[in-house]
Amino acid sequence: MSDETVHIKSYGCQMNKLDTALVTSALKKAGFSLTDSAKEADVVLINTCSVRDHAEQRVISHLGHLQHIKKSRPEMIVGVIGCMAQRLGVKLLEHNAVDIVCGPAQIPQIAKLVTKALQGKKETIAVTDKIRQKTDEDQAQALEDFESAYGIEDRYIPGQAYVRAMRGCDNFCTYCIVPFVRGPEVSRPPKAIIEQIKKLADAGVKQVTLLGQRVNAYKYKSGKKTWCLADLLRMASDVEGTEWIRFVTSYPSEEFFDEILQAMADLPKVCNYLHIPAQSGSDKILRAMNRHYTAGRYLAMLAKARAIVPDIAIAGDFIVGFPGETQADFEVTVDLVKKAQYKNCFIFKYSPRPGTNADKRLQDDIPLEVKKSRNIKLLAVQEKISEQLSAEFLDKEVTVLVEGLSKKPHLNDTEGGDKPQLIGRTATDYIVVFNGPLSLAGQFAKVKITKTSPLTLFGALI
Ligand code: SAH
Ligand code: SF4
Ligand code: F3S
Repeated sequence: MSDETVHIKSYGCQMNKLDTALVTSALKKAGFSLTDSAKEADVVLINTCSVRDHAEQRVISHLGHLQHIKKSRPEMIVGVIGCMAQRLGVKLLEHNAVDIVCGPAQIPQIAKLVTKALQGKKETIAVTDKIRQKTDEDQAQALEDFESAYGIEDRYIPGQAYVRAMRGCDNFCTYCIVPFVRGPEVSRPPKAIIEQIKKLADAGVKQVTLLGQRVNAYKYKSGKKTWCLADLLRMASDVEGTEWIRFVTSYPSEEFFDEILQAMADLPKVCNYLHIPAQSGSDKILRAMNRHYTAGRYLAMLAKARAIVPDIAIAGDFIVGFPGETQADFEVTVDLVKKAQYKNCFIFKYSPRPGTNADKRLQDDIPLEVKKSRNIKLLAVQEKISEQLSAEFLDKEVTVLVEGLSKKPHLNDTEGGDKPQLIGRTATDYIVVFNGPLSLAGQFAKVKITKTSPLTLFGALI
């Protein structure tokens, strides 16, 4: 047992945040206590992302800051975990601030690594040079055990939890680093997932979000039986206490698509929300990205989703400035965004990732200025659509799951101004800001919408 304090910061996606929760849970079990202050912590862990260069640069600058703190407190231990740890491995140990490097597949070892580092031992790196090989049985079991030990005290948002449905990715979109840092695609056994959801529900978790890089490709075989995501959604729906079920991210593939939509339509607990990145509206660029669909097929899938689940909210991702993206390619992307009628979408400037096919074979030939202006243009197109879709909520009543205090104060000065400003989300993922008691965090609430903006609804607690 130990009485040292640990500070953890997450820089990545939901997978990364789930790993942070698992690591937190493991370290607490090992006797460490958590602190919000990096300045005072005995151990600082940074859970990192490699998806774009910008994500890595933020970590590098954080490490610079920690190196500065270490000048006055050389005994402080700094660990880099997650995707960037896997990508850079031993190179990270060359950084003066870094004592521990641990990849996503090795996180079950984290408490051991931290303890070793605190004892002044040097072998504090755990990354694999065989990330693309199927994990051996022992390692797979270690990951499963680690996952199922996920403690309820480590939730990020009260009443909510992430549950991994799948690890890794086999899709190899040409721009993407994820398959190289997260390893092969593996669907977890449905039994393990459902047991975890039950445990979370017993501990008061109302919303679970099933995670996978292509979560709609979930497929688990045992004997003659095969489970797909729709089966998982049905099983999760039967769990008493679980109220809302989400899943991200979906890949535009027709396999299982109808079944999943039908499950969404049939099961009241499954939130009517689909995050289904298109990345581009140009078939030429989609091919170069190794995305296995055309813009036409993608739009047909959205139409089908809306036919089966009429009030569905759809979100997307786009990359602008992919190698070879002409103005004409960009214009068809703008077209696709207009037709798709997303609730919101995330737009990224192409960032070459070392080792990916796009980086090896294609020249990053779109100037940064062009990437920036396409990004701004596409955002503006989407903002108009978001604004129109949001406006439909005016004067309507919505149910939200309350997350806690809203970070941006005074956006809304309607009634109840003496109460704190809270933030919640609807089942369709709309963000709602309203005044109410903080005790509502983790609970459902009904809000009447009094004002709308492209990305946020404002209202009054009913
Ligand atoms: N598995 C998910 C998303 C993974 S990464 C999916 O397939 O949709 C999240 C988003 O980051 C991607 O949807 C993509 O839009 C973006 N992204 C990934 N690699 C990128 C790169 N090299 N440059 C810019 N954006 C990238
Ligand atoms: Fe990356 Fe493509 Fe896999 Fe998503 S589906 S994680 S974008 S390789
Ligand atoms: Fe997530 Fe970034 Fe890794 S997007 S899977 S933390 S590379």
